[in-house]
Order: sequence, then structure tokens, then C-alpha cells
Amino acid sequence: MLMVTDITAWHGSAQILFGVSLVVRPGEVVALMGRNGMGKSTLIRALMGLCRIRSGSVTWQGREIHRLPPYRIARLGIGLVPEGRQVFPTLTVRENLLAVAANYGQLEEPFTLEHVFALFPRLAERPGHLGRELSGGEQQMLAIARALMINPRLLLLDEAGEGLAPLVREEIWQGLDHLRRRGLAILVVDRDIDALLRISDRLLFMEKGSIVWQDEHPFPCLDSSVKLRYLGV
Ligand SMILES: Nc1ncnc2c1ncn2[C@@H]1O[C@H](COP(=O)(O)OP(=O)(O)O)[C@@H](O)[C@H]1O
Ligand SMILES: [Mg+2]
Repeated sequence: MLMVTDITAWHGSAQILFGVSLVVRPGEVVALMGRNGMGKSTLIRALMGLCRIRSGSVTWQGREIHRLPPYRIARLGIGLVPEGRQVFPTLTVRENLLAVAANYGQLEEPFTLEHVFALFPRLAERPGHLGRELSGGEQQMLAIARALMINPRLLLLDEAGEGLAPLVREEIWQGLDHLRRRGLAILVVDRDIDALLRISDRLLFMEKGSIVWQDEHPFPCLDSSVKLRYLGV
């Protein structure tokens, strides 16, 4: 289980996170939403060790991780699908995947190329294409597939469906749903509230660096006034 307790983080002299707490358990999808600039990416980066946590704590499987560097956090079985995907542009699809392959989460049935290709058949059709030759949707699938190749038990996804066509997004949501059923813990940032309501166990809204509202499946408290207030939709 991931347990985040009252963490704060700064960018330079500006405080961005103001005491964020949340949990993500195995087999759960937790969705984080909020308008632009509210601190969602900062939170994801902080969990991955890419932005320093100044106070509070993060424990993963009972162990404190908030002072570890990113590579150590990855080795504890935490996979990141970063904002903007960041696939290796000059490596092929196959090389992007094999470059990071490891069983950091010590899964009994680790993900292989075959597994991730089965999850995202579009990638299976293009193993020799370079990262930069892929469409946005294919790059997003590759970014998720690459994160799976470290065999994480926790997956962090920042803007998972951003800028993608609805059908491609649907493939990604189905992929996450499948991973959840395999027992992965998933924390996903996105703005596709309808999709997130379908696949999430919990929905968190962030405003100005704090979690200001949350609800659990089947989201009895979520109505249009809440959406308008926190998402502007
Ligand atoms: N590298 C940075 N340096 C300074 N300020 C930053 C940096 N990255 C983000 N910020 C600021 O932190 C706040 C939160 O940003 P971010 O976490 O990216 O929000 P979100 O992902 O919710 O859009 C914003 O006010 C943004 O301007
Ligand atoms: Mg962001």
C-alpha cells in the first residue's frame, strides 16, 4: 500500500503542496483531478522522488521512501508514466521496452514483451518503429508499456489520456482496468471524468496544493455543482 501523509513541497520559494494525504491499495485505481496548476504533477513527481518533499511522509509497503532518489523508488516497484510521455525518440518500440526491463516489483508472473504487446496490440504491430515515429496515442501506450516492463506494483500516471482520440483513450482505460484486476495499485491524473468514474475506486480533487474533496465508488456525493467547482466543467 502507498500511504502519503501530510506532505509539503516547494518549487523554489513557492509552496506548491500544502499537506497532501492519500492512500492507494493493491488492486485500486485512485484518480486525481483538478484544474491546471493545482499541483497534481508536483505530487506525482514528489512521490517518484523527482521533487523534494519537505515535510510529511510517504511509505510504500511499510517502508519510508520520501528521502530516496528516483532510481531507488523505481527499484521498489513503482512505475511512472510521466506527463508528456517521454518515450526514447531514437529507440525502437522494442528497444524502449527492453531498455528498462526488470522485475523490480518481484511479481510472480512478470510482464514480458508478449504481455505488453497483448495489452496494447498497436505496439505489437510496430516493434521496429522509432519512438518519434509513433502517434501520440501509440507513444502513450508505449510509455505505459515501458512502465510495466519494470514490473511495478504501483503505477503513477500523469495526464494518461491527454490529447488522445477517444478510441485510443478507451484502450488505455481498458488497459488500466485490466492492470487493476491483476492487483496493481494505480494513481492516475487525468481530466476525463466519465472514464475515471468508470474505472476508479476513489476520486480526489486537488485545489491549490491540497486535496479538497474526495468520494468513493459509486460516488454518491458527486454532482454537477462539485464538478463545476473543482473542474470548471
Ligand atoms: N519547475 C517549476 N518551477 C517553478 N514552479 C513550478 C514548476 N513546475 C510547476 N510549477 C508551479 O507549481 C504549480 C503546480 O504545478 P503542477 O504541479 O504542474 O500543476 P498541475 O499538474 O495540477 O497542472 C503551478 O503554479 C506551477 O506554475
Ligand atoms: Mg500536470
